[in-house]
Formats: sequence, C-alpha cells, structure tokens
Amino acid sequence: KSSKIILDRSYVVGKIDNRLFGSFVEHLGRCVYEGLYEPSHPLADELGFRKDVLDMVRDLGISLIRYPGGNFVSGFHWEDSVGPVSQRPRRLDLAWKTTESNEVGLHEFAAFCKKAGASLMYSVNLGTRGADDARNVVEYANHAGGTYWSDLRIKNGAEKPFGIPLWCLGNEMDAAWQTGQKSAQEYGRLARESAKVMKLVDPGIELVVCGSTGPVIETFGDWELTVLDECYDYVDYVSLHRYYENPEHDTASFLANTLDMEDFIHTVACICDTVKGKKHRKKKLNLSFDEWNVWYHTKGQDEELIAADRWGQALPLLQDVYNFEDALVVGLMLITLLKHADRIKISCLAQLVNVIAPIMTEKGGGTWAQTIFYPFMHVAKYAKDTDVLMTLIDTPLYDCKKYTSVPYLDGVAVMAVDAQTGACREVTLFCVSRDPDEEHTVTLDLRSFGSLSLKEHILLHHDNVNACNTQSDPFRVAPAPGPGGTVEDQTAVLRVPALSWNVFRFT
Ligand code: AHR
Repeated sequence: KSSKIILDRSYVVGKIDNRLFGSFVEHLGRCVYEGLYEPSHPLADELGFRKDVLDMVRDLGISLIRYPGGNFVSGFHWEDSVGPVSQRPRRLDLAWKTTESNEVGLHEFAAFCKKAGASLMYSVNLGTRGADDARNVVEYANHAGGTYWSDLRIKNGAEKPFGIPLWCLGNEMDAAWQTGQKSAQEYGRLARESAKVMKLVDPGIELVVCGSTGPVIETFGDWELTVLDECYDYVDYVSLHRYYENPEHDTASFLANTLDMEDFIHTVACICDTVKGKKHRKKKLNLSFDEWNVWYHTKGQDEELIAADRWGQALPLLQDVYNFEDALVVGLMLITLLKHADRIKISCLAQLVNVIAPIMTEKGGGTWAQTIFYPFMHVAKYAKDTDVLMTLIDTPLYDCKKYTSVPYLDGVAVMAVDAQTGACREVTLFCVSRDPDEEHTVTLDLRSFGSLSLKEHILLHHDNVNACNTQSDPFRVAPAPGPGGTVEDQTAVLRVPALSWNVFRFT
C-alpha cells in the first residue's frame, strides 16, 4: 500500500515540554519494595536502591516521576514516611489491602529522583485528609527553615528544601474504589481550598487537579465542569487517566484505541476552555496525562493474590507481561500525546517498575525490559527538546469492531533546531503501522527543511503479536535496524513494514 506524509517546518504544533517523558511510582505491589528498592540486593547502593534499576530508568529517559500514588495516596499519611526509619509506623493500605512499612518515604524517594535525573511530582491525600495536611507537606518539603515543619525536615537530614515544583491534588477522586471518594462539588471545593493554602505556603508550585478516571465513567464531563467551576483560578493542569485493554484479542480494535484517546483529550481541552469562557478568564489550563498505559493482562489475578495473603507486603500485583501489540499501542499513545504538545505538558507512563511497568526485576536477581520499554525510550530520547510538527498522513483506512475509518498509519514528526542559527538539525518521524498484512511505501516531502538525509531507521516488529520479553527470553521483542528508504531530490520514500513501530531519523 502507499501512504503520504505532509510536513512543513513552519507548521509547529508546539515545543515539547520535557515533562512529557514522565512515569509513575506508587507504593503498590513490587514497584517500590523488591522493585527499585532492595537493600539486600548485591547491586543496592548506600540507600538501598538497585543500581541496575536506576540505570534502566536513566536509559528509558524518565524526566519526571509522580509519587506516591495512585489509589495508595488517598489513605496515606505523609508524616509516616519521614524521620528515623526504625520509628516509622506500619500501616494498613486500604487501597491495595497490603501493609505499608514506610521504609521508603519522601526523603528516600527525593534522593532516588535525583539519582535518576528526574523531577518529583508529589501527590497529596485529599481522600481521607484535607487542606491542612496538604499545606503542611508543602511547608515540610519546600520552605527553607525556621518553622515547625521545615525545621523537622532539617532535623530529619535535609538541610536544603526539596523544592518540589509540581503537586497533585489527590488521585481519581471521582472513582468508587477511591478511599474517600467525593462528589464533584465536594472535591472541587476541597481542591480549591487546598490549592489556595498550598500556594500561600509556596507560590512557586504548580498544581494538578483530578479530572475523571476516564471518559467511560458516568460522571465524565460533568465532573470536569463542576470541579473547574470551583477551582479554575487556583490550579494549573487537569489530569487525564486512560488504560487500554484487549480482552477479546481483537488486534485491529485494540490498535485503534488512540482514536478514543484523541477524543478524550479534545473533550477535556474543550471543557477547560468552556470554563475559561464562562469565567471570562485569560488564563488557559493545560493538561497532565498522568496515568496512561495498557493494563488488562493481570486483571482478576490480583484479587486471588490478595485473598491468599491479605495485608501482605510486596505482593506481585499488576505484573502485566506485555506483548508486541501492547508496544504498538504504547507507541500510538506516545504519538497521540506528542500531537497535543500544545496542550499536554505532563504525562506519566503508569507505572515504572514491576507494576504495569516497562522495567521488571527479579528479587535478588536481574532486570529486563518489557516490550513497551522501547517506544518510550525512543520518544524520550529523540523528542526531547524538539518542536512537534503538524503531521498530515494520507493513508488508507480500515473498519473494525470498535471503530470505523481507522488510518492504517499513524505518526508524528519532531524537529530539533540549532539554537544559534535556527537551522533544522534533525527531523525524527515516529510512525506505527496498524496494517496487519502489507508494507507501506511512504513518501515524504522534505523540501522545507533544507538538505536532509536518512540517518537511521529503527524498527520494532515481531511476526507474533503475542510475543513477550521474559526473564528467560529478555530480548525476544527488541529494536533492530529497519529497511529504511531513500531520499532523492528532497523527497523521502520510506518502507514501513506491516504492524510495526518505526523511528526514522533525518539529519
Ligand atoms: O496505576 C494503577 C492504579 O490505576 C492507580 O493506583 C490508580 O490511580 C488507577 O486507577
């Protein structure tokens, strides 16, 4: 089949905010304990963090980490997680029915982020707690000293404030499963008052207010309208969460789910602008897509694991083993996020280690990269510090069970510009083929960029959509050089294999 991509260096969607390459660490399953933290491991550093995991986090290019939850945060007392480790209380975690030792807390995780080169996005508990606890933790973390909470931080070993720049006002407060679920009215008011006092303590922070758990929840839309009506003036971003699944093994529909993601983003942006218009404000709210991934392989298992060891620790919960088609969906989700770089400033792949994660660890043993690791790594590496270009794709369409008129190819291009001269240094095209049968020949007019040649084609492909990477076979699905293409007279003719994730780099 033939497809055509239209690009022009003048048509810039927006500058990439490098916080788009974020991830999420929740006190859940084996993400923290036995994941990134394992003091008895031969590769543990002086704080108990695994150096091999840290290396993989750096390789993945993670720029920001949302922490400590998730559902966990809605019952969490942040004070439990500071001070001498031996004196920290063990608590029941009602969200995941496990026991939290608080061995890893705010100081330790801030140190982990520093080692990983990532900035910290910290969530406050607006489930069982409120404005007072929220402002206290901002004072503890960000105030220089001379007050009760800031002096306690200093006493606990951190002379300098952590300077956490970005805070979440709770987590999924619309959801029935949330500890301390709220109505939109209740939450909007609580978010507003919490935001107000948090910013009084530190006016430099930015705040993310909870949007809906997803577009399929009944209150979606109304929730955003009501919440923003209360707190529009006090917050900076609205959160979006979305996980896709393929329980019926319908690859064509599974790969088309980013049409739903497009619609979700568009609707939330429109609601923000509706409230802006209604309130006659100049301020524009941006979006924080702070939980996204594929998640379904382990659904159902977790209840059994919990029933077998209720209030246990580091249970192997949500340990989805990702296959090749999941990597394509993750690639498509990344493309969708990039296309909205003008509006989405923060995004977090949920999660980072062992729990619906790109990185897996064996207790006392090694690590391996899941299939989804690779598209994320490519985007974090090649889209960092670039401009996103409007990418028009003329490609045949298909119909499937869930959607009609699905483009066989989806993609987005980014451009790196020389800061001094303004000349284009590199154009990178990220592209997924949803076509199960045929290679596409893609033509791309490069005239507006000056003289570019094809430097590299990185390809992720496997003949079996169910192929996975496992501890015993860790590189079954891994990137390799692709068939590439030609560039003649400033026109590229590229080969995009059937069902594939592609990175074309032009320099
Ligand atoms: O990422 C797993 C869970 O998914 C999070 O705790 C919650 O916010 C969401 O429902």
